[in-house]
Amino acid sequence: MANSSQREKWGSKIGFVLAAAGSAIGLGNIWKFPYVVGQNGGAAFIIIYIICVFAIGLPVIIAEILLGRTTQRNPVGAFKALSNSKFWPYVGAMGVFAGFLILSFYSVVAGWSVGYIYESIAGVFSGFDSPNAAGNHFNQLTSNVYWGIGMLAIFIIISMLFVYAGVQKGIEKGSKILMPLLFILLIIVMIRGLTLEGSNEGLNFLFKPDWSKVSANTILEALGQAFFSLSLGMGAMLTYGSYMSKEDNIPKASLEIVFLDTIIAIIAGVAIFTAVFGTGQNAGEGPGLIFHTLPIVFTKMPGGYFVGIIFFILLTIAALTSSISLLEVVTAYFVDEKKWKRHNAVLVFGFLAFLVGIPSALSFNLMQNSKIFGMNFFDMANYLSSNVMLPLGGMLIALFVGYVWGIDKVLTELKYGSEKLFSKSRWIISVWIILVKYFAPVLIFLVLLQSLGIF
Ligand code: PFF
Repeated sequence: MANSSQREKWGSKIGFVLAAAGSAIGLGNIWKFPYVVGQNGGAAFIIIYIICVFAIGLPVIIAEILLGRTTQRNPVGAFKALSNSKFWPYVGAMGVFAGFLILSFYSVVAGWSVGYIYESIAGVFSGFDSPNAAGNHFNQLTSNVYWGIGMLAIFIIISMLFVYAGVQKGIEKGSKILMPLLFILLIIVMIRGLTLEGSNEGLNFLFKPDWSKVSANTILEALGQAFFSLSLGMGAMLTYGSYMSKEDNIPKASLEIVFLDTIIAIIAGVAIFTAVFGTGQNAGEGPGLIFHTLPIVFTKMPGGYFVGIIFFILLTIAALTSSISLLEVVTAYFVDEKKWKRHNAVLVFGFLAFLVGIPSALSFNLMQNSKIFGMNFFDMANYLSSNVMLPLGGMLIALFVGYVWGIDKVLTELKYGSEKLFSKSRWIISVWIILVKYFAPVLIFLVLLQSLGIF
C-alpha cells in the first residue's frame, strides 16, 4: 500500500498549483463557460459567477485540498481516516464514481476537439460560406458512429499515458509544459478576436451588465458552472492535495488556482465573443457554440487557418489536463484502498471509461432517440454527475470540515504552511470558517434543489 512515507509527492510547489489549475481549466472554461454566458445574458451572469467562485468555490476548494493533504489518501480513504462513521466514506465513493462518469462523457467532447485538430489542418473550414455550413459539418461528423467512438478512443488513450507515468513524471511534467502553452495560445486567439472589426460589441456583451436578463435561475446556473469549472465536489482536488507536503500554503495555492481558472474562462469568453460578434454570429447558440461558430469565424479572419489549428490544439490540451485528474481520482482509490498496481488501475479504468463513453458518443447518432426521463445517455451522465453529484459532494465536504472533523483539528492542519496568514491576517481564517460552515452549504443546498427541479 502507498503509505504516507512511500507515497509520491509533487516535485515542487508550482507543480501542485499547475496540476490543480490544469484540472480546473478545461472544457468547462473554454467550451461551456462561453455558451452558458451567452445563454444567460453576458456580463450580469459573469458578475454573479465570479461572486459564486470566490464566496463558495474558494472556501470549498480549501476544505477539499486540506482533507487530501491531511490524510494523504484518496477520497474514500480520507473520510475513513478522519471519522468512524460508515456514512462519510460513501461521500468519497460517490466522488470516485462521479469522476469516472464525468471522464466517460467529457472524453466524448474532448474527442471532438481532437477530431477538429485534423479538420482544421485539412483545411475543411475554408470551404464554409455560411454559419449553417459549419453547423452541418459538425452534425455530419458527430452522426458518424466511427468518428465519435474513434476520437473518444484516441483521447482516452492519451489521458491514460499521462496517468500511467505517475504523479511526478506524468501529471506534473505534463502540466508544467501544457499549462503555460495553453495560456499563450489562448492569448493569441484573444488578440486575434480583439483586432476584428465589430469586436467591441462582444466586449459590451461581456462587460456591460444587462440585469434584466437575470432571473432566480441565473444565480443557481452560475453556482453549478462554478462547481464544474473548479473540479469541485468529487475529490479531484482532494486527491491532488494528497500529494502535497505540509510546507505548502493551502489558502494561497487555492487562491491561485481559483484565480487562474477564472482568468482563463474570461480570456476564453473574450476570445470567443469578440469573434462571435465580429462575424455576426449568435451569442445564444448553446452547447454547439464553439463547433458551430468558430470554424466560420476562423475562415473569416486573416490567418484563420493557423488560428483554427492553434485553437483546437489548445482546447484538447485543456481537456487533457482535466481528464488526467478525473482518471487519477479513480486510480488513486484503487491503488490505496484496493492495493491495485497503478498501471493495472489505469489500464482497467481507462478501458472501462471508454466503454461507458460509447453510449455517450452514440447519443449523437444511433442512440439519439433512446431517452430516459427525456434525456439521452450523454445528457443523463452529464446531468447526474454535474448537477447532482458535484453539488451534493461539495455540500457534504463543507459540512464534514465545518462540523464533523472538529474545527480545532481543521485549523491545526490548515496552519501548516500558512503560519503567516494565521498570525498576521487571522480574520481571513474567521471568514473562511463562516463560509464553510454556513454560507457554502446553504447555497449549495439551493443549487441542488434547483437541479432536482424542486424549485
Ligand atoms: N473542471 C473541468 C473543466 O472545467 O473542464 C472539468 C472537471 C474536471 C470537473 C475534473 C470535475 C473534475 F473532477
